Amino acid sequence: MNTALVTGATSGIGQAVAEVLIARGYRVIGTSRNTSSVADPIPGVEYRDLDLTVPESIKAFVDGIADIEVDVLINNAGESQCGPLEELPIEAVTRLFQLNVFGAIELTQAVLPGMRERGSGKIVMIGSMLASFPLAYRSSYAATKAAIKGFATAARYELKPFGIDITTVEPGSIATGLSARRTKYCGPHSPYLRDFTTVISQLDAKEAVGITAERVALTVLEAIEDKKTLPIYAVGSNAPAVFLAKRLLPRSVLEAFTARAYGLPSKRAAH
Ligand SMILES: NC(=O)c1ccc[n+]([C@@H]2O[C@H](COP(=O)([O-])OP(=O)(O)OC[C@H]3O[C@@H](n4cnc5c(N)ncnc54)[C@H](OP(=O)(O)O)[C@@H]3O)[C@@H](O)[C@H]2O)c1
Repeated sequence: MNTALVTGATSGIGQAVAEVLIARGYRVIGTSRNTSSVADPIPGVEYRDLDLTVPESIKAFVDGIADIEVDVLINNAGESQCGPLEELPIEAVTRLFQLNVFGAIELTQAVLPGMRERGSGKIVMIGSMLASFPLAYRSSYAATKAAIKGFATAARYELKPFGIDITTVEPGSIATGLSARRTKYCGPHSPYLRDFTTVISQLDAKEAVGITAERVALTVLEAIEDKKTLPIYAVGSNAPAVFLAKRLLPRSVLEAFTARAYGLPSKRAAH
């Protein structure tokens, strides 16, 4: 039986991935910051504690899986952060990179030696379409998702000769309730407040009518089981049409279109 490790398996996409993998016959190790309070445990999933922002927690978790042959790693756990670049507290940006990037890289490094020795393995980074289509007030988040994709896309060349596939799944807007958990940094008197509110309310509305986490989980399964793993799998938010537009349209046109679609002005009076 193949063993899969899914970070952040207690809600949204991670929970749906764990469920799909159990149904597919995998042994699934799922993580949570607090396994004693998992609201809706999936039968068969082995829950383990892991807080990717706490170095001691990562070390204890990695030590705890040392004897397990991990065949599949899904780096899913993440925080959704928003705010004008000017006002993002550097501590918050640091936490975001620790969770969305460095923690995932540390786990990847922990499972790679075993995969290399066995000559097989699959690693999936859960990125975001915001890495391919960055948006105002999502700079830190888009940067973490671009970073994780960069690690994966570059390492494909290193890992392929050892029989290991690494890829990125880029979800668009997915109805997981993530909007309610999004961390927001925009002061009440911020010169950006109006545009920030316009953009984030549109994002929240898109998330509410987004595709399901289960649909994303099927794409993750495809990424794991494809004979020829692609570098990127995008799902949701009309991904095929949007990526086609990116290939066909000049960058300046795409940028102007995005700004207009989110109600962003091209100029504001000095403030
Ligand atoms: N929803 C979307 O529209 C969307 C779109 C694009 C990409 N994504 C990405 O997809 C992934 C999952 O998103 P989601 O919408 O399913 O989010 P979610 O429902 O909020 O789930 C996040 C998961 O991450 C875990 N987690 C949170 N903080 C953690 C920490 N410090 N250490 C370890 N685990 C932590 C949570 O587990 P515990 O609370 O149990 O610890 C939870 O299971 C994220 O990487 C997100 O950026 C989501």
